[in-house]
Amino acid sequence: MKKYYPIKRGFLKKTVAYVKAVDDVSLYVNEGETFGLVGESGCGKSTLGKSLLRAIEPSGGSIRFRDRHDELVDVMDLDYKGLRDIRRNMQMVFQDPYSSLNPRMTVLNIIGEPLICNKIARGEELRERVKYLMEVVGLNSRHLERYPHAFSGGQRQRIGIARALATNPKFLVCDEAVSALDVSIQAQIINLFQDLQNEFNLSYLFISHDLGVIQHISDRVGVMYVGKMVEMASTEELFANPKHPYTEALLSAKPIPNPRLKKERIILRGEVANPANPPSGCYFHPRCPYAQEICKQQAPEFKEISSGHHVACHLANELELKGAVGI
Ligand SMILES: Nc1ncnc2c1ncn2[C@@H]1O[C@H](COP(=O)(O)OP(=O)(O)OP(=O)(O)O)[C@@H](O)[C@H]1O
Ligand code: SF4
Ligand SMILES: [Mg+2]
Repeated sequence: MKKYYPIKRGFLKKTVAYVKAVDDVSLYVNEGETFGLVGESGCGKSTLGKSLLRAIEPSGGSIRFRDRHDELVDVMDLDYKGLRDIRRNMQMVFQDPYSSLNPRMTVLNIIGEPLICNKIARGEELRERVKYLMEVVGLNSRHLERYPHAFSGGQRQRIGIARALATNPKFLVCDEAVSALDVSIQAQIINLFQDLQNEFNLSYLFISHDLGVIQHISDRVGVMYVGKMVEMASTEELFANPKHPYTEALLSAKPIPNPRLKKERIILRGEVANPANPPSGCYFHPRCPYAQEICKQQAPEFKEISSGHHVACHLANELELKGAVGI
């Protein structure tokens, strides 16, 4: 997957460069699994999530999706109608339950909209389906004529989830879907995501900058840095046995729930690289405590170094990095 944004300058709006927001990223999400995506702000997580659904048009790449008839569809090849059909299978849950719900629509219309747009249900059938969805996400179905302002933050996120589930999708992209919520509410919504996954065999791409949330919810994890995937492994493997220095630094900055355990925090030098003008070689080299000469000159390949564990680092097989075991 690639998504480049042109940078235009001058009177003629000539393209002078590109922001490579997502640059040659490959990943897979298995059926019924949660793939967690982490990385600092601006590394391209949302751009990748939206590109996978073609909510924004990717600059290149391919998206293969197994639909409800068990057929492998190339989403990049679909025309407008094909895309509308496949979108019933692939939905998105957003970060901010306050701004993503129309304040002038009732819950019935908010949750029911995808059903009306896709001509799936209307009238009494629509009402029944919305009531069912409200109950599925833990809302009182008698409140279906209420407006979003009558609900709390956690309840609004439940409305957003019910709306995403309306068309009975297989795959959800959840972009910072719990980040705006209080910690206790966060835990409830995470539990809801897990219950729904078990009940409907959903697959999630779960985007968060919070490593605690990612560790809790994910089966596999991908770490992004400046538009590239730098490490990908099962959650257990990634947290216990990181192979990329950037992952090690992220893990060292993760808060420890047990105050008796001391941890050395790796303070990353320098700023996150600019995706419009990234450094040479390995993009992480100006901040990497292990950087060698080769790192400045050659971009490391994203390689599988053990079963299911992929890393882009020249020294992946040599470095002894610290994981986050016991925290
Ligand atoms: N419409 C756009 N036009 C130009 N550049 C964009 C656009 N949208 C995003 N970008 C740039 O693409 C890069 C990736 O942005 P993206 O929003 O995907 O990051 P993110 O990892 O989701 O960050 P955050 O954690 O803050 O949500 C950033 O450098 C951003 O400035
Ligand atoms: S390739 Fe070099 S600079 Fe990049 S992460 Fe590995 S050791 Fe650090
Ligand atoms: Mg984002």
